[in-house]
Amino acid sequence: MSSIQQAAVALKSGQLVAFPTETVYGLGADAENPDAVAKIYSVKQRPTDHPLIVHIADKDAAKKWAIEIPQYALQLADTFWPGPMTLILKRSSLAKDFITGGQDTVGLRVPDHPVALELLRSFSQLGGNGVAAPSANLFGRVSPTSAEAVQSEIGSRLSDADLILEGGDSVVGIESTIIDCTQSRPRILRPGAISAEQIMTKTNLSMLDSGERIRVSGAMESHYSPRARVVLNDEAKPGDGLIASAQIATPPQVIRLAAPTTDEEYAQQLYAALRKADQLGIQRVVAITPAGDGIAVAIRDRLRKASS
Ligand code: TXA
Ligand code: MG
Repeated sequence: MSSIQQAAVALKSGQLVAFPTETVYGLGADAENPDAVAKIYSVKQRPTDHPLIVHIADKDAAKKWAIEIPQYALQLADTFWPGPMTLILKRSSLAKDFITGGQDTVGLRVPDHPVALELLRSFSQLGGNGVAAPSANLFGRVSPTSAEAVQSEIGSRLSDADLILEGGDSVVGIESTIIDCTQSRPRILRPGAISAEQIMTKTNLSMLDSGERIRVSGAMESHYSPRARVVLNDEAKPGDGLIASAQIATPPQVIRLAAPTTDEEYAQQLYAALRKADQLGIQRVVAITPAGDGIAVAIRDRLRKASS
């Protein structure tokens, strides 16, 4: 048995498995097992009214978890799954309150990572229907984008039978775009790598406007926060950490934490840079936010919450 198959067996027998995805690492449990899901909340110290995303191997599995799936949601799934997109749909009876936080909707995602997909397929061969997985960090903290970051974040809180799967650095680096599919048109609840512009050009769907001021359960302020204080678009002073595009020079005695050359690289490096600030004991991190649309919207969203 491969280590991924062993991890699927662990999930099926009620253990937790942290696994890589293209966005961030998730902390997974059998989405039908209330005791296993309860362990996620306890390891993360997360309030139980925060719903979890159910990860599935393919679009067909969505029909088990959701009912009355609108045509536009199927089109989104066809276009962007596997990928960094979560759809919020009306739940079926399979999605119990312990997954949805008592809401009548469920979040579903097919991640685009070979390890995650093999895990989900092995799990479904064992009779599993979906893996509930929030980001594998303590509540309110920075999401992990490597197995090493998962280990340092929650490793000591896992039991001996729980597992962490290795899958390299997450290539997207920030959490999935969450799209509400319960109304007549799709609406972005949490911005991510799949941007509104991309959705409109690839699908021709018209979207409900969500602007940058997104208010969704779980999108509360102060999230994605390192111990260091994060300050946006300020002048970096000696001893500060700096996250900014490569075109921006590092002032004297400022510790450069990331110098991305594109917005995609910015997203990819952001959380590792915030973690590094804490490892180095830096007190204040200045981040110069990227302008424009696309994934820059999501980067600004995360930085705004990290700084509040
Ligand atoms: O990229 C991602 O989405 C990662 C990877 C692991 O897939 N997962 C992730 O999960 O970011 P988490 O739990 O850290 O964030 C999920 C967000 C939360 O803010 C939660 O409130 C929201 O999704 N969410 C989940 N189900 C929902 C629902 N039914 N209605 C509204 N929001 C929901
Ligand atoms: Mg999270």
